[in-house]
Amino acid sequence: MRKPIIAGNWKMFKVRDEALQFIYSVSDQAPSQELVDSVICAQFTVLRCLAKRQGENIRIGAQNMHYLDEGAYTGEVSASMLKAIGVSYVIIGHSERRAMFNETDKTVNLKLHKAFQQELTPILCIGESLEQREKNLTNRVLNRQLKADLAGLTGEQVANLVIAYEPIWAIGTGKTATSEVANEACKHIRKQVAKMYSPDVANKLRIQYGGSVKVNNIEELMSMPHIDGALIGGASLKAEDFLTFLKVAVKAKSE
Ligand code: PGA
Repeated sequence: MRKPIIAGNWKMFKVRDEALQFIYSVSDQAPSQELVDSVICAQFTVLRCLAKRQGENIRIGAQNMHYLDEGAYTGEVSASMLKAIGVSYVIIGHSERRAMFNETDKTVNLKLHKAFQQELTPILCIGESLEQREKNLTNRVLNRQLKADLAGLTGEQVANLVIAYEPIWAIGTGKTATSEVANEACKHIRKQVAKMYSPDVANKLRIQYGGSVKVNNIEELMSMPHIDGALIGGASLKAEDFLTFLKVAVKAKSE
């Protein structure tokens, strides 16, 4: 049985006071870490203050990192810098970074290797565009991303990875993939990982769905057998809603 994992992706939202207010209101009420992994992926300037206040039941994640340890890379942040301030997770290859900040499968792969080296848990985002889905290319796109992004990773690393299936057409658009469509894609990802590694690795791998997840659709998504959690953007900004996501995930996976 895979433990559910709910991650909020705050993107470029929340100044320090807003971030602190959020963590104070959720940390007492979030379910135990034994039942669900709860992660807040915030922007760089609030990571330290969140990490200092994270309780046992909430973990902090970054939304990006560089794949090198240090150097003349103005504006970049390394995995060891994140690790040093108490960050545990890092989103890698989000479609917004792929589309707007030149992230490629090659840099995604280098970042995954570096994150594991620094003992950060990566949340790898993959997913197809609307055009690719309409041309029936979804599975092919997912296979290609998996092959390139996971190149050189060991089975043990992949078993500890989190993959977020995020169809690009569903992000921030209000168009959620139906739970069946989302489950089919997550099932395909698991099948492909089983082929690339082993059924055991695929069975341990946790796969989230992401893209317009809201309080009114989380229950149905979490009831699907191949969906182990959610990566939530806009709807993760409200503490009350974030708590709802956590509680629904625990309930759905304990039934
Ligand atoms: P959304 O974003 O929930 O606002 O659609 C999801 C994401 O980008 O991870």
